[in-house]
Amino acid sequence: MSNNLLKGKKGIIFGALNEDSIAWKVAERAHEEGAEFILSNAPVALRMGQLDELAKATGSEIVSADVTSTEDLENLFKIAEEKFGKLDFILHSIGMSINVRKKIHYTEANYDFYHKAMDISAISFHRVMKIAKEKDIMNEWGSILALSFIAAQLAIPGYNDMSDAKALLESIARTFGYYYGRDKKVRINTISQSPTKTTAGGGIKGFSSLFEYAEKNSPLGNAPAVDCANYCVMMFSDFTKYVTMQNLFHDGGFSSTGLTEDIMGDMD
Ligand SMILES: NC(=O)c1ccc[n+]([C@@H]2O[C@H](COP(=O)([O-])OP(=O)(O)OC[C@H]3O[C@@H](n4cnc5c(N)ncnc54)[C@H](O)[C@@H]3O)[C@@H](O)[C@H]2O)c1
Repeated sequence: MSNNLLKGKKGIIFGALNEDSIAWKVAERAHEEGAEFILSNAPVALRMGQLDELAKATGSEIVSADVTSTEDLENLFKIAEEKFGKLDFILHSIGMSINVRKKIHYTEANYDFYHKAMDISAISFHRVMKIAKEKDIMNEWGSILALSFIAAQLAIPGYNDMSDAKALLESIARTFGYYYGRDKKVRINTISQSPTKTTAGGGIKGFSSLFEYAEKNSPLGNAPAVDCANYCVMMFSDFTKYVTMQNLFHDGGFSSTGLTEDIMGDMD
């Protein structure tokens, strides 16, 4: 189904790894809605080769960039400028924590790993926008999005230092959003998505229980990745021009629910 919501719009999509990735679904939906974009991911992710399939299906170029490297990002934006001139949207769909991967408990964090998690999962959002702003590459009313999770607001055991990374990510969206909006009318938001079965999601300790609990404790149930992609498309479109500096929950009502009857029934 296409409504040409993104006809003529150009962008960069970071973070499509395989067909489970939220960014993969965003790329598919953005393409259906008429957008053109560059797909970017870390060199190690590109070596897996799966992104070629998505690039072919969406007529996109792939440009390798480790988001912790300013040099890589400057090269990516140079290629984007040569290809498209100006951009209308950017998706930051990136997260990684070595403390999570190595199952190191939150209270016993390794700080080198902690710094790495902040750099890849949050500070990279600032780095991407800093380069975009310096290059003045975004069109007015352009839209920049990052994906977040409710562990930024609520303590969720197992989410580990990614909770802190998401809190920082959401703060960067607000603060950078102020300056980018004031100076260039560019809007910046985060979408706080339900637990979703992806490579990054699956790495979280207790992910299956978290997924089941959130499913039961949301009046609408967990939001699927493809619906998150639809929300991203809407946020890139001209129908959301005055939405900026927000953390937008896309979670079937989970964030506003204390307790569902379903969960109460389990307790009984
Ligand atoms: N899956 C969930 O339950 C869930 C819920 C809410 C938010 N999110 C967020 O959605 C985003 C996308 O995750 P996903 O669930 O689609 O998983 P995913 O594993 O498919 O995507 C994570 C991506 O980050 C990329 N990445 C890691 N290190 C990088 C680096 N140094 N440079 C560039 N790219 C790098 C990976 O290659 C991968 O493509 C993340 O920000 C994640 O935290 C996920």
